[in-house]
Amino acid sequence: MGWDLPVESLSKWWALMSKTVRARAVEIIFALQNQRSNLDGLLAKHGKQVSDQDRKFLQSLCYGITRQWYHLSAIEAQLIDKPLKPRDLILGAIVRCGIYELGWMRSKEHAVVTEYVDATVVEGRPWARGLVNAVLRNFIRHRAELKMERHQAETLWNHPSWLIERIQSAWPERWEGILVENNAHPPMTLRVNQRLVSRETQIEKLRAQDIDCVPGSAPASIRLNEPSPVERLDGFNQGFLSVQDESSQWASIALAGTSGERILDACAAPGGKTTHLLELADLDLLALDISERRLTKITENLVRLGLRAQLKAADASQPDTWWDGIPFDGILLDAPCSATGVIRRHPDIRLMRSEAAIKSLLGMQRALIDALWEVLKDGGRLLYTTCSILPSENDEQIERFLGHHPDASLGVLNAGIPGIRTTHGIQQLPSHTGGDGFYYALLVKSGSSQPKVRA
Ligand SMILES: C[S@@+](CC[C@H](N)C(=O)[O-])C[C@H]1O[C@@H](n2cnc3c(N)ncnc32)[C@H](O)[C@@H]1O
Repeated sequence: MGWDLPVESLSKWWALMSKTVRARAVEIIFALQNQRSNLDGLLAKHGKQVSDQDRKFLQSLCYGITRQWYHLSAIEAQLIDKPLKPRDLILGAIVRCGIYELGWMRSKEHAVVTEYVDATVVEGRPWARGLVNAVLRNFIRHRAELKMERHQAETLWNHPSWLIERIQSAWPERWEGILVENNAHPPMTLRVNQRLVSRETQIEKLRAQDIDCVPGSAPASIRLNEPSPVERLDGFNQGFLSVQDESSQWASIALAGTSGERILDACAAPGGKTTHLLELADLDLLALDISERRLTKITENLVRLGLRAQLKAADASQPDTWWDGIPFDGILLDAPCSATGVIRRHPDIRLMRSEAAIKSLLGMQRALIDALWEVLKDGGRLLYTTCSILPSENDEQIERFLGHHPDASLGVLNAGIPGIRTTHGIQQLPSHTGGDGFYYALLVKSGSSQPKVRA
C-alpha cells in the first residue's frame, strides 16, 4: 500500500493544477494543512470565482473534511506508508479531498477518481498521478474497514489530543457531550429586530415561506431547522433580521444598555453585538476594533439595519490612542479568545489553535480588561464575554481581575441566561437544543477609585 514520493517543486504543482471546483478544494485543504488562512476566508476567496452550485459543493466538501480531519489523517497514514515530506503535502490534500468524497459524500466514484487524478497531471511526473489513483482505489476497496478503525482519541473525536485533554480537565463530566456537539452541524439562528417586528410575526412570515423554525432561548432569537440563504428570508433585506447565535444574543442583553447611555463595544467587529445593543436602546455607542478591514463589516451591518454608531480602528488595550477622556456608562468586552465554544460553527478552530496561542490570548484578555476598567465610570458596568469554554479564559480571568481591583464587584446577570452558574459568571456549553459555548461575567465599578479623566 505504500509509496515513496519524489515530489520536487510545489510551485510547479500550483501552476499546473486546473481550476476545477475540486482543484479549488485541494488548494483550500492544502492551505489549512499549512495553517495559512482560516476556512471561511479561503472559502470566500475561492467562492467568488465559481457558480452558486459549485460554491455550495465546495463549502460542504471543505467543511466536511475539516470536521473529519483527524480521522482522515489516520486513514491516509494507512494508505501511504511513509509520512509525506513537507514539500509533498499537496498530495496529501488531493488524497484527503478524494477520500472524503468517496467515504462521506454521495459523489460518483468514477468521477471522483478521474477528476482528482486529472488534477495531479504534472508534466514529467507520472508517478504522482499513479499515487493518487492507487490510494483512492485502495480506499474504495477497503472503505468499510478503514472507516471503522478509530482507536486513537484524536481519530475517534476528531480533535487534537491537547484540546481533548483541556476539555476533559475543564469538564470532567461533560467532555464527551461537548466533543459530540463540536462535531455536529449547528443550527442557523436569527435575531429579530424587535423595534420593527415581533418575533411571533416574523416566525409566521418565515413559516409562510415554508421555512421550518422555532423560537430560541434568547428573546429575539429564531432557530431554523434547515439553514437558508439569508437573501431568501422575508425581512432580511429590510433590516428585520440578522444572523446571530442565541448565546451571542445574550451578551448585549446582559450589558442592558439604557437609552442615552455612553457605551463602548471594545472588540466589536463584525458587529453582531453592536447592532443588537443599538436595537435594544438608543445609545451613544463607540465601536472599536483593532482590524480596520473587519470594521467595514460593522458599517455594512449598520447600514442594512438603519442604525448608527461611531466606529474606530484602534487597540482597545491602549486607551491613550483612542479615548477622548469621557468615561463610559457601560463596556462590552467580547474578548478575543480560543473560540472553543464555536468549533461546531468553525470546525477549523481545532486545527488553527495551539496551547501556545491560547497562552498568548490569556495575556491579551488581561491587558484588555485592565485597560478598559480605567475608562469606565464609577458605578458603570463591564460585561466580559468570550466564546470559549475554557475556565482559564473565563472564571479564572475574572478571579484574577477581582483580586487586583478592589473597586470591582460582580453584578447580577440577567436571570434568563441559560447555562451553568460558575463562581463568577455563567457558562453556556454548545448544545444542539441551544446556542454556542459562551461565557458572561458582569463587573460593576464602585466609587472607591476615580476613573482617569485626561486634563
Ligand atoms: C470575538 S470577536 C468580536 C465579535 C463581535 N463582538 C460581534 O459580536 O460581532 C473579537 C474581535 O476582537 C478584535 N480585537 C482583537 N484584539 C483587539 C484589541 N486589542 N483591540 C480591539 N479589538 C481587538 C478582533 O479583530 C475581533 O474582531
